[in-house]
Amino acid sequence: DTALAELLSSRIRDVPDYPKPGVLFKDIAPLLADAEAFAALTTALAGRAGELGATKVVGLEARGFVLAAPAAFAAGLGFVPIRKKGKLPGEVFEQSYDLEYGSATLEVQCDAFEPGEKVLVVDDVLATGGTIAASLDLVRRTGAQLVGVVVLMELGLLGGRDRLSTHLDGAPLETLVTV
Ligand code: PRP
Ligand code: MG
Repeated sequence: DTALAELLSSRIRDVPDYPKPGVLFKDIAPLLADAEAFAALTTALAGRAGELGATKVVGLEARGFVLAAPAAFAAGLGFVPIRKKGKLPGEVFEQSYDLEYGSATLEVQCDAFEPGEKVLVVDDVLATGGTIAASLDLVRRTGAQLVGVVVLMELGLLGGRDRLSTHLDGAPLETLVTV
């Protein structure tokens, strides 16, 4: 949807040299602060959750929570968090992934889903794809079925989409804005 993409991209702010020199940071704070754009984003995410037949919306800590939780509410669905290591009680599956320097680990509760649930994964940015790849591996290990991934912003030059192709199991990867 071109009108939606234009509205959303008009509210994403370029911040040069953040968090370090030479990096152009894409700041979604103006989008979240704009009632019209935030509502349009939430409605679009919720609409895809319904169309894809999701029974839960999964958000990725931290920025993914801000998008996924209202989308779940708007779609009439429950929300499940994938969190950074050490934040979730009880039995968890964990999956490490590489960062530019070092690595990080994400977790999901083993009993996050009922048998047969269908999951939409939501995050703000697809860059190298490491965060979403690890998250999709976690969803698979719970036994839930992935029905799609929707990301607000795809950084097209970093190869994230290619990296995810082997993790998607045929589910669609959709991005609302490509930068
Ligand atoms: C950012 C962003 C995505 C991820 C994308 O999260 O919110 O989740 O990086 O990068 P990738 O495709 O290369 O994995 P970050 O881990 O910086 O933390 P935050 O969401 O907690 O702010
Ligand atoms: Mg993140």
